[in-house]
Amino acid sequence: MNDEQKQRYLEKYQQAKQKGVKFFPDIIYKDLLMSFALFIILVMLATFVGVANEPKADPSDSSYIPRPEWYFLFLFEMLKFFPGKIEWLGTVVLPTLAILALFLLPFLDRSPARHPSKRWRTISVMGVVVLAMIGLTIRAVITTPPQAEAESLAASLGESILVGQDLYSVNCVECHGPDGEGGEIQGVEGLEGYLMKPINSQDEMYTRSDETLFDIINYGQPGQGMQPFGKAYGGELSVSEIETIVNFMRYTWDDRAEIPEEVSQASAVPALGENEVPSYDVYIAPLVKRNCVSCHRPGKKNNNYLMETFDEIMNSGDHAPNVIPGDLNSNLIRMLNREEIDAGGPMPPTKALKPEIIEIFTRWVLGGAPQTAEEAAAASGPITTTLTAPTTPLTVTLTAPEVTASPSP
Ligand code: HEC
Ligand code: HEC
Repeated sequence: MNDEQKQRYLEKYQQAKQKGVKFFPDIIYKDLLMSFALFIILVMLATFVGVANEPKADPSDSSYIPRPEWYFLFLFEMLKFFPGKIEWLGTVVLPTLAILALFLLPFLDRSPARHPSKRWRTISVMGVVVLAMIGLTIRAVITTPPQAEAESLAASLGESILVGQDLYSVNCVECHGPDGEGGEIQGVEGLEGYLMKPINSQDEMYTRSDETLFDIINYGQPGQGMQPFGKAYGGELSVSEIETIVNFMRYTWDDRAEIPEEVSQASAVPALGENEVPSYDVYIAPLVKRNCVSCHRPGKKNNNYLMETFDEIMNSGDHAPNVIPGDLNSNLIRMLNREEIDAGGPMPPTKALKPEIIEIFTRWVLGGAPQTAEEAAAASGPITTTLTAPTTPLTVTLTAPEVTASPSP
C-alpha cells in the first residue's frame, strides 16, 4: 500500500467517522438484539431437543472413558502428543502461547489493508491453526472407542458375582459345565466328544489374571471352538457383563479369594421341608437357569426346547409336553434320571445332576409342577401322605417311581 492509497483510505475513514454510529447506544443495541435472539434459540433447543443424560457416574466402572465436549476434543487429542513428563508442554505452554499470540495480533499485523489477498500471511497462519484443530478433532473421534454402555450391573461385589453366575450359566455351561469342571462335551454342535479341560482348577486360577480371563471371554478362543463374547468382537456381552463373569469365576473357583457371605447364601440350593412341594419360582427356575438354559434357549439348532420361563418349560419342545404335572414318566424326569428315550439322551448330557437336585425336580413334578410359592404351599398339603412314607432316605423316594416308570414305554 503506497502513501496515496493510505491517504485515500484515511479520508474515507474520517468521513465515515463524522457520519458516525455511536458505540452506545447504537452498537450495544444491535448486540443486545442479537444476543437475545441467540438466547431464544438456546431456550428452544433446550426445551424441544435437549441432550440425553450420560449414565450415572459409577465409581466401580473402570471401563469408563472420560471425554471432554466435542469443541475441546482437539486439546484432548493434542495431549496425546505430550505424554508423561512433558505433559505440561501440551497443557500449559502451548495454550498460553496461543492466547498470547492473539493478544499480540494487533501489533504483529499492522497493515490497515482489509482485502484477504493482501493479508495472506495472517490468514494462512490462522488457516493452519484451524485445520490443525479440525484434524485433531477428527483424530480424537476416530481413535477414542465408543463408550461401552456403562450400565451399572451391580451395586456390590456380591451382586456382581451373582449377576456373573447367571451370565456364566447362560453362556458358558454348555461347554464348561455348571462349575467349570469341563469333561467330555455332549450336545454341542461342532464340539461333540471334545474333552474339555477344567477351567476351575487351581492351575487355571493361579496362572490366569483377571485381565487374562477377561480377554479370553472377550476374544474367545476362536481356534479351539470358543467364539468371542465381547460386543466389540461380534459377541453379545458388554464390558461390564464380562467383568461380572470374571468376578464369578474368581470368587467361586479361586481358593485364595474369599467369597462374600451374601453370595454363598444366595447361591446355595434352599433346603426343602420334609413334605414341602417346591415351586417353580423359588426352586426350579434357579436350578434350570444354572444347569439347562445355556442349551435350552432360543437360537440353538440342536433342540427346540426352551426353558427360560415356566410356560416354555411346560409347553415348548419337539416332544412337548416334557413336564406332565404329577407324572414321573415325564420326559424331563426320565432324562434327569439318565434314561435314553425318544426325546433324547440323559440330561444334562455331560454329567448327572446331584441327587438332591434331581430330588427337587422329582418332588416338583410329583406335586403337580406348581408355578408360584402359593400354589406350591397349597399342593404341599394333599401329597403329604404320598411323600411321608419313603422320606427318610432321599434315594427311596427316587427309586420307587422309577421302577413304576420303566415298564410303561
Ligand atoms: C461353544 C463352546 C464354548 C463356550 C460356549 C465357551 N467356551 Fe470357553 N472354551 C471352549 C474351548 C473349546 C476352549 C479351549 C479349551 C481347551 O483347551 O480345552 C475354551 C477355553 C476357555 C478358557 C481357558 C483358556 C485357557 O487357555 O486357559 C476359559 C477361561 C474359558 N474358556 C472361559 C469361558 C467362559 C467364561 C465362557 C462363557 C462366557 C466360555 N468359556 C464359553 C469352548 C467354549
Ligand atoms: C449341553 C447342552 C444341554 C444341556 C446343558 C441340557 N440339555 Fe436338554 N437337550 C439338549 C439337546 C441337544 C437336546 C435334543 C435331544 C438330544 O440331542 O438328546 C435336549 C433335549 C432335552 C429334552 C427333550 C426336549 C424335546 O421336547 O425334544 C428335555 C426334556 C431336556 N433336554 C431337559 C433338560 C434339562 C432338564 C436340563 C437341565 C437339567 C437340560 N436338558 C440340559 C442339550 C442340553
